[in-house]
Amino acid sequence: MKILLFGKQGQVGWELQRSLAPLGTLVALDRHATDLCGDLTDTAGIEKTIQTVRPQVIVNAAAYTAVDKAESDVDLARQVNATAVGAMACQAQAVGAWLVHYSTDYVFNGSGEQPWTERDDTAPLNVYGQTKLEGEQFIQAQCPQHLIFRTSWVYGSRGGNFAKTMLRLAQERPRLTVVADQFGAPTGADLLADVTAHALRQCFSTANPGPCAGLFNLAATGETSWHLYAKHVLAQVVIAQPAIKLVASEVVPVATADFPTAAARPHNSRLDTSKLRSTFGLTLPPWQHGVDRLAQQLVA
Ligand SMILES: NC(=O)c1ccc[n+]([C@@H]2O[C@H](COP(=O)([O-])OP(=O)(O)OC[C@H]3O[C@@H](n4cnc5c(N)ncnc54)[C@H](OP(=O)(O)O)[C@@H]3O)[C@@H](O)[C@H]2O)c1
Repeated sequence: MKILLFGKQGQVGWELQRSLAPLGTLVALDRHATDLCGDLTDTAGIEKTIQTVRPQVIVNAAAYTAVDKAESDVDLARQVNATAVGAMACQAQAVGAWLVHYSTDYVFNGSGEQPWTERDDTAPLNVYGQTKLEGEQFIQAQCPQHLIFRTSWVYGSRGGNFAKTMLRLAQERPRLTVVADQFGAPTGADLLADVTAHALRQCFSTANPGPCAGLFNLAATGETSWHLYAKHVLAQVVIAQPAIKLVASEVVPVATADFPTAAARPHNSRLDTSKLRSTFGLTLPPWQHGVDRLAQQLVA
């Protein structure tokens, strides 16, 4: 199997370099690649790369993920999250490749308390969510052989993320304030990458891969708030490294309304993963499993 990976340096892209390697020949690019174009601001370059490599699978882990910045950087966010993805979908269809892509619970408006299913109506609250939704729609319209994984609250050992920020702040400030009325499941980039590899293997080992294609929610099991997530990370860090010096003596819950950001955030980021689990015969671990491993890595 020949696999073309875009966005190899991101949290998920980094883990995909590991998980996809045993499946075949991997051509992994970032935006700075020279021989082949991996820059999603260059639509023609991306098209040429796909025509040149002619992969069986394209995996797109590149995205414009700066949620607040996207509010004032709409054109670039749309180019990376939608226009370039649409071009990938057209070229994937042209060369007969599967297209794997990642999306977000931010396509929903975050209302209610029930986990979102793949059938629920979308209504993004911000530019990032809107452009990610447009990317999904281009793929669905142009490339039937696709896997779109909607996920939430991604962290990884590489790159910046919430857990790392909380640890840094807890070493600098006596008091942390963290939003307590947004709910979701922290999901490891390693889990996303491993499930991607399992799903691709299933697509390529069955005579009729049609039912494997489509849109799937993919997140760790369980739920928490950002506030409880922060407390959990700090508790785990202390267990892993009792000698660590944390200045923060309290982690105070605050409301979203008390924490204004450029982009509105959804209250409810819960994702129902039953479709993914039944289609691919997979078990998704509790969110604490991966976060506890991350906490150990952060202080190792
Ligand atoms: N992070 C989350 O909490 C979260 C939640 C739900 C869904 N997702 C989705 O999951 C996927 C992976 O996210 P992630 O957490 O791995 O994000 P990430 O760590 O921010 O990685 C995104 C990657 O895309 C690259 N990129 C940005 N603009 C590019 C361009 N013009 N050309 C080529 N590459 C470009 C970035 O490169 P640079 O480092 O050079 O900028 C970065 O390596 C994305 O589709 C994202 O929308 C993420």
